[in-house]
Amino acid sequence: MKKKVLLMGASGSGKTSMRSLIFSNNPASSTARLGATIDVEQNHVRFLGDLILNLWDCGGQDAFMDSYLTTQRSTIFQHVGVMIYVFDAETREINKDLEYYRDCLDGLTQCSPDAAVFLLVHKMDLVQEPKSTMFDKKREELQKASGDVAITVFGTSIYDESLYRAWSSIVHTLIPNAAVLSRHLTKFADGCSATEVILFERTTFLVIATSSPSTSDANSSSSPDSSSAYDFHQMNPKRYERTSELIKAFKWSCSRVREEFHALEMDMYDFTAVLDEMTRNTYVMVVVHDPTIETAAIKLNIRMARKKFE
Ligand code: GTP
Repeated sequence: MKKKVLLMGASGSGKTSMRSLIFSNNPASSTARLGATIDVEQNHVRFLGDLILNLWDCGGQDAFMDSYLTTQRSTIFQHVGVMIYVFDAETREINKDLEYYRDCLDGLTQCSPDAAVFLLVHKMDLVQEPKSTMFDKKREELQKASGDVAITVFGTSIYDESLYRAWSSIVHTLIPNAAVLSRHLTKFADGCSATEVILFERTTFLVIATSSPSTSDANSSSSPDSSSAYDFHQMNPKRYERTSELIKAFKWSCSRVREEFHALEMDMYDFTAVLDEMTRNTYVMVVVHDPTIETAAIKLNIRMARKKFE
């Protein structure tokens, strides 16, 4: 199953940088050396089992944009699963950016009416005014420019975890059996008396699915010895994307000393976390807040669950 992902936006808005961070495990500091993308760079990324992401990084210089909208129109906008349009948060050419965006949206709705649209207000680290005020204003502006088309907007930066949050949510829409995976993870979490179980994609470390209860479940108190009795409000809401970011940074450090990353165990004073391979394409993280549960038992449970998830 191949899903086409269009990555579009003005030249210099940061498209290739984010691709390089998420899919090639490069650090943010290396992106300053990237040259402008000429025309379209296509990449195939085997994401999960049969799911292949066909990523089209479209160079954003005007001449290329004009060509996507005219001669290459049907090639670019046909069979698209997701379009990600990147806006530089600090752009001085917002009107021009919006004009190109509207033209691309027209092409997309014409050739791939079912495609999902994600808009990234990128380089948020450079924004001086209060970020949330600026972001809300921008989101409103983008919603207006999109007319009736449903959009999802994220504020992102390559210098923090926000990029992982956005991309995890984007790929989540492309995974056909995400809900089933979540159900299996919840069962697995119960079986291990884990507070939470998270499934990551192997190369990108994007979150694929989690066992977490919905907010309403988290609010209701259950039996005190059950894992769901843990107060989810105490958990950092950014924990998933922070983990993706930290593990990617750790993997990069490993590669610098020519070591390969395999697994991780953390025994902290109030919780234990084990990160280990689940399937060929995934890693699983099991978080337990019960000191009586041994790390070895968690690892054994992961080993036994592998077949089910393969
Ligand atoms: P084209 O290939 O011409 O379409 O440009 P592009 O959108 O691919 O831009 P590219 O990824 O080459 O990034 C341009 C510059 O922006 C690089 O110097 C990056 O280091 C910088 N950049 C990318 N993301 C961020 C970010 O989140 N914050 C900051 N401060 N700089 C960023």
